[in-house]
Amino acid sequence: MPIRWGILATGWIAQKFTKDLLVDPATRQVSDISHTVVAAASSSSVDRAQKFLTECGCPQDAKAYGSYHELVADPNVDIIYVATPHSHHFQNVMLCLKANRHVLCEKAFTVNAKQAELLYAEATQRKLFLMEAVWIRFFPLCRELRERVAAGEIGRVHRVFADLSFGDHPEEKFGNDHRMTNMNLAGGAMLDLGIYSLTWVFQFLYHIRGTSASTQSEVKGRPKVAASMSKFPGTGADEKTSIVLTFPGKDGADEAHGIATTCLRTSFDPDEHGSAGPAIRIQGDKGELQVFGPAFRPQRFRWIMTGKDENLKEEKRDIPGHGMFWEADECARCLRDGKTESEIMSHEESIVIMETMDQVRKQNELAYPELIESTTYDANNELNTGKKPWLTIRLPCCAPPCGNARATAEHRPAYAHNSQSSKLTAIS
Ligand SMILES: NC(=O)c1ccc[n+]([C@@H]2O[C@H](COP(=O)([O-])OP(=O)(O)OC[C@H]3O[C@@H](n4cnc5c(N)ncnc54)[C@H](OP(=O)(O)O)[C@@H]3O)[C@@H](O)[C@H]2O)c1
Repeated sequence: MPIRWGILATGWIAQKFTKDLLVDPATRQVSDISHTVVAAASSSSVDRAQKFLTECGCPQDAKAYGSYHELVADPNVDIIYVATPHSHHFQNVMLCLKANRHVLCEKAFTVNAKQAELLYAEATQRKLFLMEAVWIRFFPLCRELRERVAAGEIGRVHRVFADLSFGDHPEEKFGNDHRMTNMNLAGGAMLDLGIYSLTWVFQFLYHIRGTSASTQSEVKGRPKVAASMSKFPGTGADEKTSIVLTFPGKDGADEAHGIATTCLRTSFDPDEHGSAGPAIRIQGDKGELQVFGPAFRPQRFRWIMTGKDENLKEEKRDIPGHGMFWEADECARCLRDGKTESEIMSHEESIVIMETMDQVRKQNELAYPELIESTTYDANNELNTGKKPWLTIRLPCCAPPCGNARATAEHRPAYAHNSQSSKLTAIS
């Protein structure tokens, strides 16, 4: 019996994911699980949800809902894919969990670590499956690379560099209202793109530690964080963020460094022909693994072994579709096996990464509006109902740089731009 998906929100990534769900699993040599889409909800209108279902080629009898509340109440839905902006994830995922639905939620999982902790605790207590949708972790390419590095192919890993940056003019491409730059939607490079750079660092300096004979002696621990952020003048969201992480070594020695970077103004691949080289470098004492970007959908890599001539031979792994079905397959298997979390994207690791990003923001005084940093669940919150007057009324008193340029009158006190309210009061 196929896993029955409900889709919460109808934006860009929801389309990609839903179309991937409907790809025949046999095309990726999968036969033990399958998927179907039984419903989708749009907070904008039922017509938009219906259009979405039609455009994605979903089954004729899939239900269209004009509210997230109706979707979570549908008893035919096994698991809900949450594809709203990260600002909404805490409220939307809690809405699903309180209705006893399993959930896969897009990255960045939440705005802050406390929200993530609350969601995972709620899911665990209700025996529900919950996972952050960091799709690359489930790519066969990433599984293979983790296994080969864990098996010691490049020796002990001492340093990882990872970048995901897009060379745009954010003023022209996004302006102040797009979710990439809008503080009310938790905009900024780090939560949207930097999470991939961090994922590469964590896969090799955290996730695989202690999982094999060659990593057994390595200490697995939270990294020390040092970071620099520069803000987008229009809104105050981060436009470039560089993070240096120091992962613990045994007895205080053998620490490893992870350097995760992201930027909205320079590209990991300026000529779009790969001339800039690998976006990710995993460096061990026997050699180096290089992965070519984009960090969110890699297909090529190569091994450069210390002191050997036969270097630089690239290996390629094709993706038969967009590539989001692999994370969906993992969800289906976990549901089938009665698991509440995936070992590949565990609750604990998701929280540690959110904590890391909290620290980066704290060091650089980046706080989001109280409404979206809040850890108080409210089913009737506008993030759940889709009523978004706060996104459409511009505060006349706010001049850039202000992350809170759009707010309703009722939120004005919390959102007004001044030196007091922009401090990091919401992040512990
Ligand atoms: N895994 C990936 O490769 C990947 C790629 C891109 C994005 N993402 C993640 O997916 C999430 C959504 O990104 P996206 O690019 O799909 O965004 P998007 O195209 O803007 O879609 C977001 C959807 O959320 C809903 N929504 C509800 N309240 C909203 C509000 N106040 N403002 C804007 N949208 C609102 C809307 O759907 P309704 O009107 O139907 O409710 C909207 O279509 C983000 O967290 C992002 O980080 C992941």
